[in-house]
Amino acid sequence: MDWGMKNRLASIFNQKSGKTVMLAVDHGYFQGPTTGLKKPREAITPLLPYSDCLFVTRGVLRNCITPTANVPIFLRVSGGPSVLGELSNEDITTSMKEALRLNAVGVGISIFVGEKNEDRTISNLGRLVNEAEEYGMPVLAITAVGKEMARDARYLGLATRIAAEIGAHMVKTYYCAEDFDKVVEGCPVPIVIAGGKKIPERDALQMAHDAVSKGAAGVDMGRNIFQSENPAAMIQAIRAVVHENYSVDEAFELFNELNNKKVVSGVVE
Ligand code: R5P
Repeated sequence: MDWGMKNRLASIFNQKSGKTVMLAVDHGYFQGPTTGLKKPREAITPLLPYSDCLFVTRGVLRNCITPTANVPIFLRVSGGPSVLGELSNEDITTSMKEALRLNAVGVGISIFVGEKNEDRTISNLGRLVNEAEEYGMPVLAITAVGKEMARDARYLGLATRIAAEIGAHMVKTYYCAEDFDKVVEGCPVPIVIAGGKKIPERDALQMAHDAVSKGAAGVDMGRNIFQSENPAAMIQAIRAVVHENYSVDEAFELFNELNNKKVVSGVVE
């Protein structure tokens, strides 16, 4: 791995814990104005001080994030279909030149293993990696899971391994309660977990805790943070689990404490 690639990856991983809390706010690229992200600037800005990295599209980045924000950017570069269409019909939508112009530290693309356009999305990943390698740009592959697919270790193990074999430098996938450690073992690059649909705060903390205990390199979490009743408190509780080895009880207590104080961006209101 060359210096630029290593340096970009190092910028999102906490030096002490070796893990990362990425904030995923790219949902609008196929869902439109998602609950909790209807006003992206207002929703995201208070969370920036607690994000090791922002996973975002160029549109929201350009229009809603101040260029002076000191947060590494992982740019979503795939898309195409909306939530009303065939979701696996994605292509590369944002060029490498654009990612470099936006000073991204990485680019992200979805693959749809087992779906209608599985082969094309996996080939797209390969093409993106070929180009990214020329510029020392890390590629995060996201294993999108269709409605019909079981989110079990067998499927997630298949999808994450394929992503790594094609050349992804990191993989984002979902957590599964059974045998997640086997998914991690079978994937030779770091795995971060997506949070999925909003669940109660304590359950989301439990999921982050279990994922990290079983070898995940961190989270790239969206809805369970920005749809929380207190997103700033939730992301701090997630950080405590990922970076400071908090137990689930301790992290939930921290969430409640911050929530009761109505802490927003470190300021007690
Ligand atoms: C999915 O479309 C995006 O890649 C999200 O970034 C990913 O699913 C993580 O967000 P969430 O935690 O809401 O699942």
